[in-house]
Amino acid sequence: MVRGSGILAVAILGLSACSTRTADLADCTTYVAAGFRKIADERAQRFLGKVQEDTAQCRGGDRAVAFRSTPWVDWQNYWAVGGSNSKAAGPSEEHVHLSPNGRGVDGALLDLEYQRIELIKFNLFDNSGTFAQYLRGRDHIDGAALKTWEEMRLPRNNPLYAAVGGNGTQLCRGELIRARMLTGICNDIKNPLMGSTGQMFARNVEFDTTFPESGNNFLVKNRHGDRLGLLKPDPQVISRKLLTRVQSDPAKCNDGQGLAGNSAKANCDYKKAPFLNVLAAFWVQFMTHDWFSHLEEGSNGPELIPMGCETEIEAGVEKLLTPERMKQLNCRPEDRIDKGLIGIETQPSTFTYAGQEYLSRAPKATQNKNTAWWDASQLYGFDEDSRHRVKRDPGDPAKFLLVSSPAGEAYLPLLQSSDPMNRQWAGQESVAFADNWSVGLSFFHNVFAREHNLFVDAFRERAAQTPDADSGLRNPATPSRIIEYKDVTADELFEAARLVVAAEIAKIHTTEWTPQLLYNEPLFLGLNANWHGLLKDFPQAREALEKIVVQNFGPSRDVKEATQWYSVFASGSGIFGLGNHVYADEPIFAAFDPAKEDLWDLSNPDHVNGGINHFGSPFNFPEEFVSVYRLHSMLPDLIELRDLNGDPNVISGKISLLETVRGKATGALRKGGLANWGLSMGRQRLGALTLQNSPLFLQNLSMPRLPGGSGKVDVLALDLVRDRERGIPRFNEFRRQYGLKQLTSFDDFADPHLPKDSAELAEQRRLIGIVRESYGQHRCDAAKVITKAQTNDDGTPINDCLGHTNGSMVDNIEDVDVVVGMLAEFARPHGFAISETQFQVFILNASRRLFSDRFFTSSFRPEFYTQLGYEWVMNNGPERMIENGMPNGHQVEVMPLNRVLMRTIPELRGELAPVIDAFDPWARDRGEYYSLQWKPREGAESDESFKP
Ligand code: HEM
Repeated sequence: MVRGSGILAVAILGLSACSTRTADLADCTTYVAAGFRKIADERAQRFLGKVQEDTAQCRGGDRAVAFRSTPWVDWQNYWAVGGSNSKAAGPSEEHVHLSPNGRGVDGALLDLEYQRIELIKFNLFDNSGTFAQYLRGRDHIDGAALKTWEEMRLPRNNPLYAAVGGNGTQLCRGELIRARMLTGICNDIKNPLMGSTGQMFARNVEFDTTFPESGNNFLVKNRHGDRLGLLKPDPQVISRKLLTRVQSDPAKCNDGQGLAGNSAKANCDYKKAPFLNVLAAFWVQFMTHDWFSHLEEGSNGPELIPMGCETEIEAGVEKLLTPERMKQLNCRPEDRIDKGLIGIETQPSTFTYAGQEYLSRAPKATQNKNTAWWDASQLYGFDEDSRHRVKRDPGDPAKFLLVSSPAGEAYLPLLQSSDPMNRQWAGQESVAFADNWSVGLSFFHNVFAREHNLFVDAFRERAAQTPDADSGLRNPATPSRIIEYKDVTADELFEAARLVVAAEIAKIHTTEWTPQLLYNEPLFLGLNANWHGLLKDFPQAREALEKIVVQNFGPSRDVKEATQWYSVFASGSGIFGLGNHVYADEPIFAAFDPAKEDLWDLSNPDHVNGGINHFGSPFNFPEEFVSVYRLHSMLPDLIELRDLNGDPNVISGKISLLETVRGKATGALRKGGLANWGLSMGRQRLGALTLQNSPLFLQNLSMPRLPGGSGKVDVLALDLVRDRERGIPRFNEFRRQYGLKQLTSFDDFADPHLPKDSAELAEQRRLIGIVRESYGQHRCDAAKVITKAQTNDDGTPINDCLGHTNGSMVDNIEDVDVVVGMLAEFARPHGFAISETQFQVFILNASRRLFSDRFFTSSFRPEFYTQLGYEWVMNNGPERMIENGMPNGHQVEVMPLNRVLMRTIPELRGELAPVIDAFDPWARDRGEYYSLQWKPREGAESDESFKP
C-alpha cells in the first residue's frame, strides 16, 4: 500500500469515533482509495490548483465544494487555512492529521507541493542558449538532469578564464571558491558564469508567448487581434483611471506632497493592509536591489520614448484625448523616459523536438545587471563601479566605514565626487546599489552595515579570548590546515561577514517577511520547511511531501525523477536541511542524523558543490519575476512620524515620501535617527496591493537625469511600459502558463466569498467596471484558438470566446497587463497581501534561488562562514532566543530581523519586546490564530492609528 495513503486511511478510521460529518468521511475514503494524482506528463494536463469534489469535501467540507467552480485555487477554502473561523470544531490536537483542520492544512501543503513540482517541470526557460539541451537532453542524459553547460563557462575575455581552466574543463578552485565573488562567478564551481553580473534574465513562460505586442504567431494574433502596442492601451490613462488613489480631501494630500512643515494635519487616503508595516514595503525594495536590475548605473538606453497620455478606449473604440480630457485625467503627454536596455534582439534560432518547432530563446532578452544570487550585493557590490562605492573602515578593514553624526550615531558615509555615480544620486550614502534611493533603503543599509560590524566585533572578541583556537575557516588551497582565530586576516573576515549578512537576509526574507506577507498556517509551515529543511520541526510539511514522492516516484533512482524527488526532499534546500553534510551510505544527500559521521571534505568539488540543484536549467531570475515584484502600491504617500523619546502612540508629523527620496532620504534619516524611523515605519500599515491604491507621489516623480520632457515621470505607467518592452505575456495567458485557471470575464475578479449585498462587493464591481472601460470588449470568434498551454475542462481547445457564445461581446481579459490584473484579484487566500498569480511566481523562483546557491546548501559550512558565523546564522545572533508563548500555536525563535534591530538599534528593545514578527505593525494585537484585525496591543490603546 502507498505509505502516505495508508497513513491517511488509518487516520480516517481513527476519526470515526469523533464528531466529524459522516459524509465528509465517506469523501475522504473515496479520495484515499483513488490515491494521489500523478505529476502531469503534459503541460496541458497539469494541476491547476483545482481538486476533485470528494477531495474538496474531505479537506474543507461544503464550503470548499461550493467554490470549486471559481478560477481561484481550492486550498484557500480548506479547513484551518484562514483565521480562527476557518477551523472546524472537532477532534482534539492528538489527532492533528486526522481532524478536519489537519486534513485542511495537509491538503493545502499537498496542493502547493504539486504546484511547485509542476512549475519546476514546465516553467524553466533559459535565455542563454541552453534551452534546446533542456528539452532534448545531452550525451544520453535527460535534459532535466543536466548539471553543467558550455554556456556557463567563463568566456575567453574574462580575466579569470585561465584560472578556472581555460578551454579545458572549467572548475573554480582556491581563492575563487572561498567566498562570494564580486561579480557572482564561481558560486556553482562547475558553471563559473552562472548567476553572475550581466547574464540574461530567464523566462518562466514559453518563448513564443513572450512579446505579445509583436503578434509573432497565430495564437498571439488570435488572442489579442491588433489591440496591443507599447502604448496600447494607453499606460498613463490606465495609471490615472485604475491606479490613482482617490482622495476624500485632496487639499490635505496635495498630490502626495502633504502640508508645509510636515504638519500632522496632512492626510493622503490609502487602503491599508492591517498585517504588514511600511518596513515590509521597503524591505522588499531592499531585496530587489540585491537580486536584479535592468538598469546600468541607474540609466537605460540613450533614446527617449513617449509614455502615453494620448488615447483612451471609449465604447470599445480607441480615441485621441483632447487637451481638456488630459487635464481631467491629470496625465502628461510630454512625459518621456529612456528606452529600456535590451541585451539581444537578433532573431532566435529554432529547433525541432518531438515533432514540434521551438524557439531557442525569446525574441529579445535583457541582461540582469546585478548578480542573481542572494548575496547582499546591494551592500557589497556586483561590479567594479559598485564595489568602489563600498567604503571600508581604514581602522579595521574587516568593517564597513561608519561615520559619527553630531548626535554620536554611526551612519554610512556619503558619496564623494570621486565615486562613480549617476548625477541623481548626489547627497546619498555611498552604497553599492544606489538607484531609487529611499528613506527605507537608507534605513536597511545602515542597519545591515552596523550588523556586519557587530559580527566583526564579536569575532574579534572571540579572537582576543582564544587566539589559538580553530576559527572553523579553511583555505581551499590548503584544506587540512587549521586557521586559528589570530590568523584570520581582515579581508577573510570581511568576506565571512558578508556570507553571514547575506544568509541572515535570506533567512529574514524566507522565515519572517514572507510568512507575514502570506499570513496563514500552510504558508508558515511551508516557508519554515523551505528554510530549515524538512527534517527539523515540521513533520506536517514533511509528511505531506512524502505522500507525493511515494505516489509518484516510488523507490525510483531514475536520474530525471531523482531531480524532482530531490526538489521535494530538499524543500528547504535547506540551509539547515540536507545539503551541507555528506555520509558514507548516501553519498551526498542523506537524512540528517547527528550520530552519523559527516565526511564532507573541502578538497572534494562534489562535496563543495553537491548540494545544489538547477533542475536542468541554469539559474537566473525570469523577467516575469521582476514584473510581479512591481509592488509600488505598498508605499503610502506620507510617513507618520513618531518619537521614541516622547509618546510613541502620538503621530507628531507626516512627511511626504517625495521629501525622503534620493539625497533627501539620507538627510531625513539622519535628522530623525534610526530609532525614530524604525518606530515610525514599524507602526504604520503599508498600502494594500489593490486597484486605485498606488502612491500619488510616484505618479509625479521628478527625473533630473532625463533631458527634456516634463521633468517628471509616472512610475506606475512606467511599470506597464517596461513590462511591455520586455515582452511579459498579458494576464490571462500568464496565468495559463503558470498552471492557474484562466478568467473568462472581468467579473471573475470579484471575490466570490463576499455576500451578494456587501458594500465591499459593490466597490469591487465599481472597479471592475473601470477595468472594462479601460481595456474594452470585442466580438469573439470561436474559430480562433488562442492558446496551447491549457485546454477547456472537456479537452477542447480554448478559443477567443472563452466559453461565451460565438459572436458575442466578450471582455478583453486577454489584454490586461499583469501588474493591473494582479491588483484586480480581489479573491485571495487568507492573509495574502499579494495575489495568487504573484504567489505562483514566487513558489517557483523563491525555492530556486535557495536550491541553486552553494552557500545556502553544500557550502553553508564553518569552512566558509567561520564557526562563529555559522552559529550566528543558525541562532539569529550570538545566542539562540526563544519567543515566549506559542504564537499561532507554534514555538518560534525570536525572529531574525527582530534580533538584528535589537542589536543594531538598542533603543528599540522595549518597543520590539512584544513584537513577534518585525513586519507586523508593531502596535497591533496579533490576537487569535492568524487574525487580521486592526486592534491595539496592550500599552498601545492610545495609538492614533487605531482611531476610526
Ligand atoms: C521611494 C521609493 C521608490 C522609488 C522612488 C522607486 C522608483 C522606481 C523607478 C523610477 C523605477 C523604474 C526604473 C526604470 O525602469 O527606468 C522603478 C522600478 C522598479 N521598482 Fe521601484 N521605486 C520605489 C520603491 C519600490 C518598492 C517599495 C518596490 C517593491 C518591490 C519597488 C520595485 C521596483 C521594481 C521591481 C522595479 C523594476 C526594476 C527593474 O526593472 O530592474 N520599488 N522604481
